[in-house]
Amino acid sequence: MRIEGPRYTERFGAVRIDEVQKVLELDSGRAGELSPYESVAVQKIEEDVIKDFEEKMLIVIPTKDEKLKLLEGVISGIPHECQILVVSNSQRKRVDRFKMEEGTLNQYCHFTQRQAYLIHQKDPVLAKALSESGYKYILDKDGLVRDGKAEGMIAAIFIAMMMKKDYIGFIDADNFSPGAVWEYVKCYASGFYMAGSPYAMIRIIWRYKPKIGEGVYFRKWGRVSEVTNRCMNSLVSVRTGFETDIIKTSNAGEHAMSLKLAELISYASRFAVEPQELVSIFEGFGGVLPMACKSAAKYGVEILQIETRNPHIHEDRGTEHLRDMLLPGLATIYHSKLCEKETKEKVMSELVQQGAIGPDEEPPKPQICPPPKNIDIQKFTKAMEGYMETRSALRSRGK
Ligand code: GDD
Ligand code: MG
Repeated sequence: MRIEGPRYTERFGAVRIDEVQKVLELDSGRAGELSPYESVAVQKIEEDVIKDFEEKMLIVIPTKDEKLKLLEGVISGIPHECQILVVSNSQRKRVDRFKMEEGTLNQYCHFTQRQAYLIHQKDPVLAKALSESGYKYILDKDGLVRDGKAEGMIAAIFIAMMMKKDYIGFIDADNFSPGAVWEYVKCYASGFYMAGSPYAMIRIIWRYKPKIGEGVYFRKWGRVSEVTNRCMNSLVSVRTGFETDIIKTSNAGEHAMSLKLAELISYASRFAVEPQELVSIFEGFGGVLPMACKSAAKYGVEILQIETRNPHIHEDRGTEHLRDMLLPGLATIYHSKLCEKETKEKVMSELVQQGAIGPDEEPPKPQICPPPKNIDIQKFTKAMEGYMETRSALRSRGK
């Protein structure tokens, strides 16, 4: 793969935010000597290097009642070296969609001879393991994991820690294009290779996110992303005193982190999770508030933003859903300890303009789950390890 090197890096305390890097070539040919120009402006990342990173990565697919054909397509796009974990919150009552997902995955893994795990978010064994590890923040009053994509993601971080993976990457299950999924993972691996710190996050930005109506319009920005990026940039600009538009991925659902970083940051419920990850990094390492971890601060936290070639085509859930996503995302910025009057006003004006809240209302406080760093992973592992074997798609076909 050939990717542009970062041309500019914005620094905020110990955080480095790299300018968007574009994918130049999906396949950059055989391994070989690089031209001098190559390592300065352009990075060629060899196949074997990418595979080395893929081997250390858990790819998590959060899913809730998605079409099985889409889920299977997404799985088929994930490079063979990666471990796959599907975290499902699909219905089990009227129609057992989870059972159907299990059947699809088992068949797929049988024929490709690859390993994948599937776990239900409401599985009581998972809830018990979380509780025993000391992390009850994502459990509801029934003692099971709450609904929400973020809740599934957090549970997956624990499973990645248990599996001793170095990296975790997320990919939504409603993607129509297996080729795009493949490219996301290649970008994650390349990003970790390029990152100058073991505390790194790779966030995907799409070249196009087509709108399919009467024809196809190759739109670049989602409406929610535009607004959230503006407010997130303001949060940084007001603190550094230099206006910036460096952040282009506040809502990036497709993103990956080193586990070292994943353990140190806090997570918001549901769809506010991605903006909150950035807010948490800025709070913990921006240098305005006390540093969240001294050794991480020494290396610095690096955020890479990579622009992919494949367009992003996913299920269209309508404008109501977009508004539901905007409010909690902006609320994480508004309620951050870093948020000054100027950014608060910007957030309010955007929310009122979009009709998400009234002029006299405040955005509701987000529900924040603390960093997983202090959990007892041994207790979690004890409760889960044997059980995960039974959640493996390959084994359950009798391998
Ligand atoms: N495990 C689990 N639990 N998965 C869920 C849940 C849940 O409660 N709710 C939704 N999902 C899954 C969906 O099935 C899908 O695969 C993925 O999470 C994202 O949900 P969508 O409903 O497709 O979200 P979206 O397309 O509007 O938003 C996506 O992109 C945004 C950026 O443009 C998400 O990834 C957002 O988090 C992201 O900000
Ligand atoms: Mg979607």
